Formats: sequence, structure tokens, C-alpha cells
Amino acid sequence: MGQKDYKQLSIEEFSKAAEVYETDRAGVYKMCKKDYPDVLAELEKEPFEELLDCGCGTAPMLTLLKERFPEKHYTGIDLTPKMIEVARAKNMPGVDLVVGDCENLPFPENSFDAVICCQSFHHYPNVQNFFNSVYRVLRPGGRLILRDMTSDSPALIWVMNNIEVPAANLTGHGDVHVYNRDEVEKLCNRAGLVMESFECRGIFRLHCVARKPADGSAKANYSRISQSYKSSQNIYDSVLTGSKWWSKLYINLFWGGVDDCQIAEKVMGFIPSDFSGKLLDVPCGTAVFTHKKYGELPDAEITCLDYSEDMLNKARSRLGESVKFVQGDVGNMPFRSGEFDIVLSMNGFHAFPDKKASFRETHRVLRRGGKFMGCCYIKGRSKVTDVLVSGVLARKGWFTPPFDTAGTLRRRLEKAFDIEEFQTEGSMVIFSAIKK
Ligand SMILES: C[S@@+](CC[C@H](N)C(=O)[O-])C[C@H]1O[C@@H](n2cnc3c(N)ncnc32)[C@H](O)[C@@H]1O
Repeated sequence: MGQKDYKQLSIEEFSKAAEVYETDRAGVYKMCKKDYPDVLAELEKEPFEELLDCGCGTAPMLTLLKERFPEKHYTGIDLTPKMIEVARAKNMPGVDLVVGDCENLPFPENSFDAVICCQSFHHYPNVQNFFNSVYRVLRPGGRLILRDMTSDSPALIWVMNNIEVPAANLTGHGDVHVYNRDEVEKLCNRAGLVMESFECRGIFRLHCVARKPADGSAKANYSRISQSYKSSQNIYDSVLTGSKWWSKLYINLFWGGVDDCQIAEKVMGFIPSDFSGKLLDVPCGTAVFTHKKYGELPDAEITCLDYSEDMLNKARSRLGESVKFVQGDVGNMPFRSGEFDIVLSMNGFHAFPDKKASFRETHRVLRRGGKFMGCCYIKGRSKVTDVLVSGVLARKGWFTPPFDTAGTLRRRLEKAFDIEEFQTEGSMVIFSAIKK
């Protein structure tokens, strides 16, 4: 079915439903009411002034919101003119109602603190356009609260998408697709939104909160990176350690045979064998190179930070509860200044999107006299590696430009540290430095 057909079906379906939508004769739509208390509870968690309801229908949710928070300003948009006509008849002051398409929201950039969308986005044939549009109209830091149908069971989702939805289309409903967690996360990530929570509540109820990052591109990049690590988590360790024939070939062809295991061993050697202070590992990844050393440091207090929940889960399975795990952004870490004796960063700085913030934060959380150590990719040492990095790894989201050369990295470090070690191996650098 074409995009226009889905939309036409929706308009026809909801033109018929509009007059009875909020009555006992609403049939299947009576179940939409079950979403409203959860949306209210979610909205109550943070202050807002301007709210947009996407696919607002006859505005039952806006009516409730107007009662609860009468001083706020509300906007509702719906594709079906009849729905908006019924909503307008309520004459609610401070509520603007617009006939329009949620795939192309007709509002200026950064206009809303919160966007809600209840039981509507499964009707949108170009659903990515909806997420992109929400990103545009949300102010930085603003939230999208989504309610719809979903299930934790892939089999049930399959039945819904392959039997229920086509059957619904035949009976005149404009349903397009029922989304699972991964699909919603991808839609958010591609739009630049960060999915903060996703639950299947009660019977098939999708409850999701996504946010437009407060500081624009860097955080949005993190979300892209997190997604790319999620999709590569099963090959990640093999690629780094060269443990499979194809990963050995890759390392020989593209990295001049530089062995990450040997590099890791050198870096681990910078940590004293009797270390008993506080160490921060950022980004800890899957702990593939570090778990052995950490096992030999029973008195050390180790904290592992990574942006990707999937990487942290793998690291958790290797390290157990002997270390502390924190999901977070290296550019804005939840630690006190000077809290750590060692900050270790293995293969991190070529991946971090906001290099300035990453250097600032790793420096801040380290105590004076503490050691900053690690390894990362540097450009300008091998043409083949540089082409691979910019042409493939950066596009995949595993690496993020701009990249330092050996010279720029050394100068960057020298500003705030006394360099103890600075060795290059192919396109990798290994360093250890003391905070001045
Ligand atoms: C089940 S109703 C939900 C109404 C309301 N949000 C609620 O929770 O009661 C779905 C609504 O989505 C609207 N809709 C469908 N496709 C749309 C689109 N592309 N843009 C805007 N609204 C759309 C329909 O017209 C309908 O009013």
C-alpha cells in the first residue's frame, strides 16, 4: 500500500470515529484512555511551558492537561480535519489546534519543551520523518513521550505486523507497523534523539521517553556511536584481539600488523602491580584487555564508564561486581574533581565525539600528581590506515573525527601533564603522563 493510501485510510477511519471518540461508543479507541495517566505522570517529572500533542485526535489528553496545568500553552496537531473540528468545539483557551501531518510538523525549530504522541505514530508511513521533525521542533533538552502498542515477544510482534495490521488495513484502518524496542531506538538515534527509556507496560503498551540532547551534536553523536557498538558487539573483541583468521588478516592489511594485545599489555604495565588507589577506566568497552589486570588488583577501587549499555553488560559479565559500572558521557562525568589516582583510556580518544570536553573531563577528575594513561589511533602514520579510518570506521560510528597526529596529541598532553611515556606503534600511540 502507498504512503498516501495509509494516510487516506487514517483520515477516513478517524473522520467516522471523531464524533464518538470520547464516548462509550468509541469501540476499540476506548483503550486509548489507559495511556493518559502514564503520560501525565511522565510529564509531571519535569517542568514544561510549551507542549505539543502529535496526533491529538479530539484532544482528550490536552483536555486533561489543561485541567492539571491550566497556565501552560498547548498545541495539538492531527491529520484528520474532523478530529480537529471536534477538539476546537471544546473552546479551550491557550490550546492551539492545527490540521497537519506529523511527518512534517509545521512549527518553528526549538518551539516545544515536550512533545507527546499517543496511539498515533503506528499510522505514519514515513515514520523516520516524524522522529526527525520532532527533533527539529523540540528545544535542546526537551522530551518526546511516546505511547503506542508493542510487545516484548518477537513472535507476537510478528503476528501483529503480518496478520493483524494487514487485516486492519482490509477493514479500513490506516495502521502501518507495530514497533519493537530496537526499531524505536534506531528511529530516535537516526533523528539525533537519545532514547532514555523504553518499556512494554501492562498489556502491549509501549512507553518510551526520548530526549533531544541539551548540547546538540556531541550527544547526538554519542547516541549514533552507542548504536554502532551495539550492532558490532559480537565481533568487537575478535577485531581488537585478532583472535580469528579474518581479524588477523584485517590487522595485517590495514593496521600494519600492529597487535592491540601487545599495546594493551604495555599500557597495563603502566599500572603498578600493587596499585591500591582509585582508577577510572573510560571507555571500558567490553574489558577485553583489562579484566586480567583488574583481577590482580584486589585493593584497587575501579570504576568503569562507557556510554554503551551493551558494552557495559559485556564488561560486567567479565568483571562481576568487583568494580563499579557507570553508564555515562566522558564529556560530562558524574565524578568529583580530583577523585581518581589513575585515569585509563584505551582506544577512547579516537572514538569520543567531543574531544575538547573529553580531555577537559579526564583531566578534571584526576588528582594532581595522578596518572593519565592509555592508547589511541593517530593519523598521519599510514595512508592505508587513514583511508580505512575516515572511509569506513568513522562512517560506521566506531571512530569520530577530528583525529590527532602524534604531534598534536603530544602538544595537547604537554599543556597539562608531564609526559612519562609516549611511544608510537604504527598508527597507534601509547602514553602515560602525570597531571601537573
Ligand atoms: C487512535 S487516535 C489517538 C488520538 C489521541 N492521541 C489519543 O490518545 O486519544 C490516532 C490519531 O492519529 C492521527 N493521525 C494518523 N496519521 C497521522 C499523521 N500522519 N499526522 C497527524 N496525525 C495523524 C489520526 O487522525 C488520529 O486522530
